[in-house]
Amino acid sequence: MNKTEQYQNIYTAFSALLKAPVADYVHMNNLCALLKKEFHFFWVGFYLRQGEENLQIGPYQGEVPCFDIKIGKGVCGTAAAEKSTQVVADVHAFPGYIACHPEPNSEIVVPGLNDGNCVFVLDIDHVDKNYFDAVDQEWLEKLCALVVEKLN
Ligand code: SME
Repeated sequence: MNKTEQYQNIYTAFSALLKAPVADYVHMNNLCALLKKEFHFFWVGFYLRQGEENLQIGPYQGEVPCFDIKIGKGVCGTAAAEKSTQVVADVHAFPGYIACHPEPNSEIVVPGLNDGNCVFVLDIDHVDKNYFDAVDQEWLEKLCALVVEKLN
């Protein structure tokens, strides 16, 4: 299976799971679980926008992370401020990178946009440098759009 097929399977599985009558945070946790298991990511999780200036930890899979991130800071805060996906080949070269753990070397952060407002970011860390590419970006943006739709 190539990466596109792996994401297609996750998209199908997550779409079906979204029909379950459970709280939104469970849906978000389900997506983290599906992604982490399939791709052996180091960490997968959501940071939720709190007011105008902050992101706070939401559902996640992996080690206990940083809880609070200022919008505009780090990879997550940059994705939220710029409302655009950040694909970071080498986290150590990213200005203001926030190291919650020593292991990751690459990262992707996708903002969840509702009517142009960032309501959350989905953050994924990988231990390899240069892990994430345009395929990850395309499918993670599609998956985040499903989450935004569910939150509405
Ligand atoms: N590295 C992120 C912080 C969150 S952790 O990766 C879980 C950042 O720079 O925003």
